[in-house]
Amino acid sequence: MSFIDTVLIEKRAFLPSKQFAAEAHVGNPLEYEPLWNQSQRDPVAFWDEAARNITWINRWKRTLLWQEPYAKWFEGGTLNAAYNCLDRHLKEGLGKKTAIIWEGEDGSHLTLSYQGLFEQVCQLANFLERKLGLKAGDTAAIYMPMVPEAVVAMLACARIGVTHNVIFGGFSGHAIRDRVQDSECRIIFTADVGYRRGQEVELLKTVDSVLSEMPTVENVMVLKRKSETHLKEKQHDWRLVCNQEAKKHDARPFDSEHPLFLLYTSGTTGKPKGIIHSTGGYLVGVTTTAKWIFDLKSTDVFWCTADIGWITGHSYVVYGLLSNAATIVIYEGAPFHPHPGRYWEIIEKHRVTILYTAPTAIRACMRAGNDHPKKHNLNSLRLLGSVGEPINPEAWMWYHTEIGKSRCPIVDTWWQTETGSILIAPLPGVTATKPGSATRPFPGIVADIVNDEGRSCAPNEGGYLVIRNPWPSMLRGIYKNPERFKESYWSKFPGMYFTGDGAHRDERGYFWIKGRVDDVINVSGHRLGTMEVESALVSHPKVAEAAVVGRPDPIKGQALVAFVTPRGEESGLDVKKLTQELKDHVAREIGAIARPDEIKLTRTLPKTRSGKIMRRLLKELAEGKEPTGDTTTLENSTLVEIIGE
Ligand code: PRX
Repeated sequence: MSFIDTVLIEKRAFLPSKQFAAEAHVGNPLEYEPLWNQSQRDPVAFWDEAARNITWINRWKRTLLWQEPYAKWFEGGTLNAAYNCLDRHLKEGLGKKTAIIWEGEDGSHLTLSYQGLFEQVCQLANFLERKLGLKAGDTAAIYMPMVPEAVVAMLACARIGVTHNVIFGGFSGHAIRDRVQDSECRIIFTADVGYRRGQEVELLKTVDSVLSEMPTVENVMVLKRKSETHLKEKQHDWRLVCNQEAKKHDARPFDSEHPLFLLYTSGTTGKPKGIIHSTGGYLVGVTTTAKWIFDLKSTDVFWCTADIGWITGHSYVVYGLLSNAATIVIYEGAPFHPHPGRYWEIIEKHRVTILYTAPTAIRACMRAGNDHPKKHNLNSLRLLGSVGEPINPEAWMWYHTEIGKSRCPIVDTWWQTETGSILIAPLPGVTATKPGSATRPFPGIVADIVNDEGRSCAPNEGGYLVIRNPWPSMLRGIYKNPERFKESYWSKFPGMYFTGDGAHRDERGYFWIKGRVDDVINVSGHRLGTMEVESALVSHPKVAEAAVVGRPDPIKGQALVAFVTPRGEESGLDVKKLTQELKDHVAREIGAIARPDEIKLTRTLPKTRSGKIMRRLLKELAEGKEPTGDTTTLENSTLVEIIGE
């Protein structure tokens, strides 16, 4: 397959130091290899064993019931996710341990102990249950800045069986409305404002602007950060109402398959899909992977820079870390604010031991220069992680030498919103890492690379990344859309989960992920569907047609380029004004993350005779290349004419 040819041959390999290996949870390759091999033969047995590390109220009767594409893990088991993240640690005497270190952009900070977090969660759970009548089976939207209360809201929902739906705080009112209505949320958790780049982000105002279009919403919980904020009908002052509630609450058991949360993500259509995650399987997946891949110790201070609005925030800020009784850092602010060394300053200040971030952030820091990390003492760091997109070897090496001082292992972790937890990554105490490779599947995960016919590829042959076995934290479906669930993941190759990524595997069994092979673009580690941006563009009255493609970008990984055919007469068209207007329009419809980097106005779009837009051609144009390959199927053989060029 030429489109995913292997071009990268990386020879450098890095072994963990003897000391790191000696202290690691998994540090002996002679023990690990047989365990890994066994887990490939019998993944269910591996996960059955792993499930014993979380606390169940009733033990499961059957480990897996698999009726493709539907899985039931730990059938008959009951548990409570919030209990696993809180109560069980208090029982072990960890009440005084710091759960959350929160750092504000202006340098203010606060810490919250496990006991303190527990009490806040209980007060909110009591209010939701007793005063608002929320119950298991309901859904709740969480549209919050990066503050501890965002975690409190998630855990309070989990505690009472309400399925949460976190919506990234950068999304627009329309994006909130669509997600809230699709998932029929009864309540929204928000704050009057968040703080970013020295500015106030008016979250409540955004919610208010679409509240009348969300009839299912009965209540809005508002975290007031400004005393002058005035609340309206349906809105509750979070702190005020919770102060009147008891600081205890009995966590009730929920079925292992009870939906813990929904998370909307982009796919290949214009509409985001609500990915459903379970309680038991999800918690087993994130707890086990967090402990092994980050080699979590009780003394670690773990900082994952992802927002809780993404899956990384769910799994490796909240559930996987708190279930392991870790101390987490939450930063509310932009990476470069007020100066480019902000990340390194935070690491020094809070003695962070594990940093988990995205290649786009690493590349931006790299560009800002080596002086910034050099100004800070980064000796506390012992492990580094990367997630969200392929990491280029140059960025990997910079991370390794400038940040990890050549002593911290790097775990390049491959996974997806749908997979719930990390599926391919090194174990830092045993795996020799190679810059740019996520290395090997986690135990209990049977990954493969297949060709168009679904047959395993030879070493170094490019193909599609698939997972051959069910795993506990896998998605359970797409909310209210079983057809799309089957079609997106289970129809391309019978009996395999299709990831949508292209990859190859080398002779050593190492996986090298190249990125999406579908119409999904990864911009700064955020996933965007080209169709989603296209439908936002065509909703503008001046747009006749639009096609969106990705173009490689040195910092963002990929940048969004939109080709737009405007409606009406070309004469008198103000190209600059219209492109600006369209960029703002997309930001308003979806959010600033979807704002196209470039808009090219075109007279027509290149289409095949059957009417399909030829994206390959547009991609080449976006990259500034001369169109190559076959254009004989093109309906109008004239090439794309850009207006104003
Ligand atoms: O293309 C892969 C890329 O991110 C996609 C999943 O995006 P999302 O669901 O938003 O989740 C991101 C955080 C888990 C994948 O299909 N991706 C994620 N991690 C890596 C990666 N590509 C290469 N290497 C990675 N480590």
